Amino acid sequence: VHHVTSARKLKAPLISSIRKRNKLGDRLTGDHVLPFSAFLTDSFGRRHNYLRISLTEKCNLRCQYCMPEKGVKLTPRSQLLSTSEVVTIARLFVQEGVDKIRLTGGEPLIRPDLLDIIIELRKLDGLKTIAVTTNGINLAKLLPRLKEAGLDLINISLDTLAPAKFEFITRRKGFHRVMEGIDRAVELGYSPVKVNCVVMRGFNEDELLDFVRLTEKKPLEVRFIEYMPFDGNKWNFKKMVSYQEMLDRIKQQWPNLERLQTGHANTAKMFKVPGFEGHLGFISSMSDHFCGSCNRLRITADGNLKVCLFGNSEFSLRDILRCGASDEELLQVIGAAVGRKKKEHAGMFSISQMKNRPMILIGG
Ligand SMILES: C[S@@+](CC[C@H](N)C(=O)[O-])C[C@H]1O[C@@H](n2cnc3c(N)ncnc32)[C@H](O)[C@@H]1O
Ligand code: SF4
Repeated sequence: VHHVTSARKLKAPLISSIRKRNKLGDRLTGDHVLPFSAFLTDSFGRRHNYLRISLTEKCNLRCQYCMPEKGVKLTPRSQLLSTSEVVTIARLFVQEGVDKIRLTGGEPLIRPDLLDIIIELRKLDGLKTIAVTTNGINLAKLLPRLKEAGLDLINISLDTLAPAKFEFITRRKGFHRVMEGIDRAVELGYSPVKVNCVVMRGFNEDELLDFVRLTEKKPLEVRFIEYMPFDGNKWNFKKMVSYQEMLDRIKQQWPNLERLQTGHANTAKMFKVPGFEGHLGFISSMSDHFCGSCNRLRITADGNLKVCLFGNSEFSLRDILRCGASDEELLQVIGAAVGRKKKEHAGMFSISQMKNRPMILIGG
């Protein structure tokens, strides 16, 4: 369903020509100023300093919007990236200027070597932020060890505050465990603790205000995400609740909702109810995309580099790594792939018609 371009077919431009492609600004590492990697800069000048690595295709939930009803065909274990391959790839990207890595999946907390991976990532000079996106099911139990290993930032997915609806949308039990995970993260001092909520008409759009109220006394950042089309998730336009509609509903209750300023690469539009401790974010990937400031790259659990969440072209880093490629050779492939990144995604209707992976196999 997706096109994997092998390294041989890619006709990577010579390293020197990638280096010349852009004479862009600088990046700071400690006291030194280095030019931002040409390999991680695309033809529109976007610098990719944020890498999301999917650690597994498996999950202990079966969210309807992410996992197709029939399940997915799992990649054999030997074809997934090993602990050391994950670390090798991460090291290379960090050397080139990536300063934030998010571990995702599938459910990253079910990967047995997760702590080892975080411990190794923590040793990488220049990596400022290690983040995890989790469904929260195993979080309360694992959190003290994750923190000790060096985890900086946590996003927890939760789409409803009603246990029965949780069971419907995730096709599994576990609501209270997720809530416990959120509380534990707050207790351990994570601030903000980000809560991801995919908003779907007919399912949870009536809970928007309840989610906003969660931010009253807790340092949470509740992030409302527009429902996105992926293979097998039965997306349709009517089920999508746009950012503007969510905002209008919330403003009816809290007319003095305050807009907050955010950095250039922040994908969320941020707000706050005056007097509330936490914040609100809106991820409007569909109705108002943020491709122009996109700074992300993705690695799938089977080792493919994906330069756009909504694009189906992929490049296998695993294969060239397993052929014994040098760092320079890997960089050539990465640079060529990044160089081909499109200006913006094709729009929600085209995306919904396009062949791509189901979300569970991409890593959100
Ligand atoms: C694929 S999950 C992987 C990490 C982890 N299992 C979790 O659920 O947080 C990452 C994020 O993608 C979001 N997601 C999955 N399918 C989506 C869709 N169709 N539209 C919008 N967000 C989606 C999930 O809600 C979650 O916050
Ligand atoms: S959204 Fe996360 S928890 Fe839900 S099925 Fe997908 S990977 Fe699993």
